[in-house]
Amino acid sequence: MYSDQAAQLRKSMKKQASTFPIREKMKKNTARVLAVVSGKGGVGKSNFTVNFSLSLIEQHKKVLIIDLDLGMANIDILLGKASRYSMIDMIEQRMRAGDIIETTEEGLSYIAGGTALSEIYELNENDLDFFLRQLEGLENEYDVIILDLGAGINRGGTQMVMAAHDVIVVTTPEPTAMTDGYGMIKYIHKQNPSLPVHLLVNQCKNKEHAAHLAANLTQVCDSFLGKKIEFFGFLPKDEAVWNAVCAQKPFMSAAPQCKVSKAMKEIAGRFCGEPSGTNENSFVKKLKGWLKKR
Ligand SMILES: Nc1ncnc2c1ncn2[C@@H]1O[C@H](COP(=O)(O)OP(=O)(O)OP(=O)(O)O)[C@@H](O)[C@H]1O
Ligand SMILES: [Mg+2]
Repeated sequence: MYSDQAAQLRKSMKKQASTFPIREKMKKNTARVLAVVSGKGGVGKSNFTVNFSLSLIEQHKKVLIIDLDLGMANIDILLGKASRYSMIDMIEQRMRAGDIIETTEEGLSYIAGGTALSEIYELNENDLDFFLRQLEGLENEYDVIILDLGAGINRGGTQMVMAAHDVIVVTTPEPTAMTDGYGMIKYIHKQNPSLPVHLLVNQCKNKEHAAHLAANLTQVCDSFLGKKIEFFGFLPKDEAVWNAVCAQKPFMSAAPQCKVSKAMKEIAGRFCGEPSGTNENSFVKKLKGWLKKR
């Protein structure tokens, strides 16, 4: 009996020994990069980014948020943190990306905003090279990287958004947010017609309301731009968001059972269940292409 087990163990060790080198040789898929944008400000991008990231972490994804909202340390505030560094420290002080990342107790990694990333345009060759190498390290390390932008996009932000694998346009049901959302989709489509655009309807009354609004916008994009946009999901209007923002805690942590948290889990579950493509063109590779056009 004992020798049987030993033989079995030896057999399995042999198997592992021959499997591991192959696994080592396999190149890890680089991060899927999502850019979260909106036309109108204050529609819920940063709250979505933080809480969606936490839901992905629950699904065992390794997630990094990069706050690209210039001048506003949005993510920091939502997490009740005060970060020591931002992207600009990485470039100016030649700090490694790993050293400027903050991590919350939930295991959420992020790079704080407040940087002048519009200057990505004006970086000299050496700085740009260093910046891109650091980003390359990050995309090899994480499964998903989420770029949280401010309302609208500036020049530097445009390059980053265009290099993403997917864009999520956040809107609320208000006509102004919907119109500005359409304006943003139009802008993105003009820059890069093949970039997949997804729509998140935030602060809705219910699923039917969201589906109706999404169908309208999808149809307008199709007929006026010839652009097919995908429905990413909806989040209900929920007082829990306001309470969590005031407490400087993500609602997924502060109120995991509230209706907005449940809806978020559903969105994240769907996202993780989708085939993510092979990401054969990594974010950095695509970004280099866009920067050549500068
Ligand atoms: N689902 C929701 N239910 C209720 N209130 C919400 C919801 N989502 C967002 N809010 C409210 O909207 C406010 C703005 O949200 P948030 O800061 O995430 O928007 P933003 O799009 O990132 O803004 P900015 O354009 O300034 O970066 C929140 O502080 C919260 O009060
Ligand atoms: Mg924001």
